[in-house]
Amino acid sequence: RGLGVPDDVSRRTLADLGRHMAVHRRRYGSCGIHAVAWLGLHFHGELYQLGRLQYQRARLGGRSGAGVAAAGLPLTSGDLCLSLHIPDFRGPLSARACDRSLALAQEFFARHHPDERYEIAVCHSWLLDPQLKDLLPKDSNLVRFQERFRVAWENTEPDDRVPVGFVFGDPGLPIEDLPRRTSVERAVGDHLRRGGHWYGGHGWFPLPWSGTAASGRLVEGA
Ligand SMILES: CC(C)(COP(=O)(O)OP(=O)(O)OC[C@H]1O[C@@H](n2cnc3c(N)ncnc32)[C@H](O)[C@@H]1OP(=O)(O)O)[C@@H](O)C(=O)NCCC(=O)NCCS
Repeated sequence: RGLGVPDDVSRRTLADLGRHMAVHRRRYGSCGIHAVAWLGLHFHGELYQLGRLQYQRARLGGRSGAGVAAAGLPLTSGDLCLSLHIPDFRGPLSARACDRSLALAQEFFARHHPDERYEIAVCHSWLLDPQLKDLLPKDSNLVRFQERFRVAWENTEPDDRVPVGFVFGDPGLPIEDLPRRTSVERAVGDHLRRGGHWYGGHGWFPLPWSGTAASGRLVEGA
């Protein structure tokens, strides 16, 4: 309220609590929250849901900062960035929904956090594993979302549990039994059954309203 955040933004943001309780019930069959620290961000005013995406007021970490600086931006670790998150159960990640969300973010942060200057978005997610591009149709929303980003740094530590958890509801499911109903299920499960692994991706892009996005040099390189 102190920041003038509209009630509907607060309501949608804090609804993640219920979403996580639903995930807990689906996964463990009981009432609870499996990611308490994550939900702290919402209640501290560090993360907002604006349309399809969530935006976390964050700072560049060491490896991301180095990656962004190496690409020629005047930013480095410790500088402000908006960390994007993709909540479950919120419908397709269409390009239109993402563009609309970014437009909402531009207005929101200018109005409610006017003292913070955000030049870039970052994302740390299984959705940015480049292998997905080879296994999903070119026009899939997930691939189109991935194409917005430049690679900040490459992860060499496999983490199969994250995509299995998000796609199939439980990170501990045996890979041989994972269903093959949708293209995303087939991409994730078949890759594991062939002996492959999944790696969290780390990407960034200049925010559409930032000075850096308008610079020809960076747009060419994107
Ligand atoms: C990311 C996400 C929004 C992409 O959904 P989308 O816009 O429908 O994706 P695409 O267009 O790329 O793919 C569509 C296909 O994947 C299927 N699909 C999408 N999300 C799915 C999911 N979570 N589980 C199973 N299948 C899924 C669709 O049914 C469709 O199948 P079809 O091609 O056989 O018809 C969706 O996967 C999702 O909500 N994931 C959970 C959130 C998440 O993982 N967040 C990242 C946290 S790090």
